[in-house]
Formats: sequence, structure tokens, C-alpha cells
Amino acid sequence: MNNTYLISLQSKLPNVGTTIFSQMSKLAQDCNAINLSQGFPDFECHPELIEGVMKYMQQGANQYCHTAGLPALREQIALKTARDHGISIDAETEITVHSGASEAIFNIIAAVVKVQDEVLIFEPAYDLYRPVAELFGAKVVPVSLKKEDFSIDWDKARSAITSQTRLIIINTPHNPSGTTLKAEDLQQLSDLVENTDILVIGDEVYEHIIFDNQAHQSVLRYPELRERSFAVFSFGKTFHVTGWRVGYCIAPTHLTSELRKVHQYNTFSTFTPAQYALADFLQKEAHYQALPDFYQARRDALRKWLADTPFKLLPCEGTYFQTVYYGHLSQEHDVDYAQRLTREVGVATIPFSPFYTQKEDNKHLRFCFAKKYETMEQAVALLIKHGDKLRQP
Ligand SMILES: Cc1ncc(COP(=O)(O)O)c(C=O)c1O
Repeated sequence: MNNTYLISLQSKLPNVGTTIFSQMSKLAQDCNAINLSQGFPDFECHPELIEGVMKYMQQGANQYCHTAGLPALREQIALKTARDHGISIDAETEITVHSGASEAIFNIIAAVVKVQDEVLIFEPAYDLYRPVAELFGAKVVPVSLKKEDFSIDWDKARSAITSQTRLIIINTPHNPSGTTLKAEDLQQLSDLVENTDILVIGDEVYEHIIFDNQAHQSVLRYPELRERSFAVFSFGKTFHVTGWRVGYCIAPTHLTSELRKVHQYNTFSTFTPAQYALADFLQKEAHYQALPDFYQARRDALRKWLADTPFKLLPCEGTYFQTVYYGHLSQEHDVDYAQRLTREVGVATIPFSPFYTQKEDNKHLRFCFAKKYETMEQAVALLIKHGDKLRQP
């Protein structure tokens, strides 16, 4: 091209690069390392789901779906919610199917946040919340979880609330730490928002990946929260199909109608054949009800193997992530350490610092155990074989 004119574009997200998940997965691929970094299963979903999608595609379910989601799927979601939480949800006006929980969270923030509004998040936080809130002109107010156990310091949260606070985002079970919020936490949140216009996102994508017979504490169970919350779920996590991009949001009618205004101009509707297949599969509660045991067995196996490494294991109450501490082995920055382990040991993990606004480095790494047993066993064998590489003063 002659006389190339360089168009100037001021980035709306100047501090955002490629996510740590993509970075570590790419490095794992480049180094031929075992990938325990990004949170996706390396095993297949139930064959009935695949057969279902194929069946409905062959039957011609290949056009746009209802923008709010296939009615039959929304009906099944309402039944599931009644079974799980004993509450009645209107499938017509309170459930919206999205292309993954990510799209739901993006749309919720777009629908409710205005310039200068404050969005309170708890850090370490899933890395989508901040950039999306900033994209819509909001000010993100990060509140650090307690260092010792990643629980919420409610006094700190209370003091971060101002007249500008529009939205609080909670995530339980929690990525990346693997902790869960307890009934007292949800009660604290209820008290905090009572008689205010503050809205809540309950990011509950790991609702069924919760261990040791704990009950998942959904925002839907607390009347004060239910009336102001968007509860977000992911079929990708529950049915081992993260690539299908299907999730949903439950929110009261007047909040849902605002959310749907954005959703219809974003994706309009979600992949139709998958919605039909999921509507059938959801009728079989057995799958998701077996999920806690399915993942608890993997958690226990990984913890048992990792106990033979010098890492210190933190408790894991939910999600498919195990956190380890390595500060007694090396003072390297966690991103450098994770990258070096990928290159020199052949095991990719996720460092925690990218989940903090201030890139706080507390020497924590996250291992994903949504993996075949042999994948995890091989990874830990490498960590043991190259134990000297884990120590670098
Ligand atoms: C805490 C959390 N929220 C939301 C998402 C996004 O879920 P989905 O894949 O359904 O978009 C993820 C995915 O890893 C997650 O860990």
C-alpha cells in the first residue's frame, strides 16, 4: 500500500492483554507440556449429549432460536432450580439462555452499569469482571479476600460501599482459590445491600462442583438477594462441554427484561441444536447430581499425589482447581515461576497474580483437576522427577 495512513486508535482497554489462560495454554502447547492450567476437561462429555446435538441438527433445528432461549430448555432450568433450591422461577420471564456464562456476565454489566458507577469485586477475581466493567465506564473497586483462607472480610467490604456502588460480584465456588461462600457470607451480603439499590451478580458456574457434602449457597436462596441478583450458571462446567458455549442467567422479571435488551443485540440467540440436546439431558438429574463425587475423587487423587511434592496444598472446597503455595521453595514472581515450570518441568499451571488489580504475588499456583487421572499422575510424576527445578532461591 502506498501512502499508508496510520489510523490512530486509543485503546478502551489499555491495560488488557491476552488472558493468562490463553498465555499458559499456548506456552503448554509450544513446550509440549501437560496442561493443568486452563479450566477445561480433557475427557469427553456424555455420548447422549453429542447424539442429541447430531439428532437435532439432522432434524433441522439449525435456525435462530428464541432470543431468551429454547422454551423447553428454560422449562427444564426452572424445574432444576425448583429441585435444587426449592424456589419457583418463571421460565418465561426470569431465565435467559446465553452463549456461556461469559456472555451473560458481559450483558448484565452492560445492561446495568453506567459511567462512574462503582462495581465491587473480591480479589483474586475471575479476570472477566474488571475489563468488562471498565469498558462501560465503571470504576472497579477491588476488595482483597483474606490472605490466610480467601474468605471475605465483610468489614472491609462494608467500608468499600459508597453512594456510587451499583453492583457487587460474588463467585462461589471460587475461581481461582477453590473456596466456597458459607451461609453466613450470604447473610452478610443480604444485610449489606438491604434498603439500597445495589445489584448483585452471583457467578455460580461451579455450583455442582462442591465437596464434602456442603450445600451450594446460591443467591437465589436468600430473599433479599434474590430480588436484586443475576445468578449465572454454565452448562459448559456442569456437562463437560466448555466449547459449546451455553450458560444461563436467572434474575427477577424487571432485571431480566433489561438483560434481554442487551442479549438480543449481542448474540441474539444461542446455538440451537445444543439447547435441544441440553433440554433432554437436563431431565436426567443423575448426571449433575453425581458431579460432586466425580470431581471430589479427582481432587483427592491429585492432592494425594501432590503431597509427595514440596508444594504446600491449600484446602479445596469446590471448583476443579487445587491451589498450592511455593513461597518456601522460590521467591520468583508467580508468573515467571509458572512459565519456568512449564518450560523446564513440562507442567503448566495458572499463577494467581493476574487475578489481582495490583498483580499481587502471594506465590500461589492453581492446578486444574478436570483431567484424566493419567494426565494428573503424569504431571505429578514430572514435578517429582524434576523436584530440584521447583526450588530456586
Ligand atoms: C468463575 C467463572 N465465571 C465464569 C466463567 C465463564 O464460563 P463460560 O465458559 O460458561 O463462559 C468461568 C470459566 O472459566 C469461570 O471460571
